[in-house]
Amino acid sequence: MALTVLEHPLAGELLTRLRDRTTGPAVYRATTRRLGALLVLEATKDLATTRHDVETPLEPFEGTRIVKGLVAIPVLRAGLGLLDATTDLYPETIVGYLGMERDEETHEPRDYYAKLPPMEGRRALLLDPMLATGGSGTAAVAYTKKAGADDIVFVCIVAAPEGLARLQSDHPDVPVVAAALDRGLNAKAYIIPGLGDFGDRLYGTV
Ligand code: PRP
Ligand code: URA
Repeated sequence: MALTVLEHPLAGELLTRLRDRTTGPAVYRATTRRLGALLVLEATKDLATTRHDVETPLEPFEGTRIVKGLVAIPVLRAGLGLLDATTDLYPETIVGYLGMERDEETHEPRDYYAKLPPMEGRRALLLDPMLATGGSGTAAVAYTKKAGADDIVFVCIVAAPEGLARLQSDHPDVPVVAAALDRGLNAKAYIIPGLGDFGDRLYGTV
């Protein structure tokens, strides 16, 4: 499975703002949306195009347009922070939802909601900012495949080596786009250095 880590200096600055413990929810949401746009651009840079000719005011032009549509699937709650970035760039995107919550003791994901649209002929962008143990991520990919998707990209902000290895082992066909690959997990399965609990920071529920 391919991992792509953003290398743009703007991605580094935005991620630093998200890591900063003093960043409050208003700036957190705006920053997530901006960083999300960079991630979604990377996750869609290989989309196939077809020829689409237009007339400029001066002469004919051999243009292009994208063949495949997108389906964005935010993993609730934290993944919602990346949804607007996707629809800003691709307004025709259709949207499905997956609800997953980690058990605080076992760190295993519990799924509590799924509403996925037909996905044939579309690229599915699974949106979840944190890939920690990989439990939620691998379950989300399994759901998405079961619902018919055959072209999936996992879009996250911070990945841990443990979660990446799990996703790679369970779903070697699914590439991952991230803003950072961090050092590892602590005893509570939080990513180190990470940024804390993404959902809590995004929604001010700390
Ligand atoms: C976070 C995050 C992922 C999951 C990652 O969600 O958004 O879904 O943890 O951890 P894992 O790789 O170990 O499964 P959380 O369970 O905190 O729910 P929330 O988004 O509702 O806050
Ligand atoms: N979920 C989060 O929000 N943060 C982590 O570090 C791990 C899982």
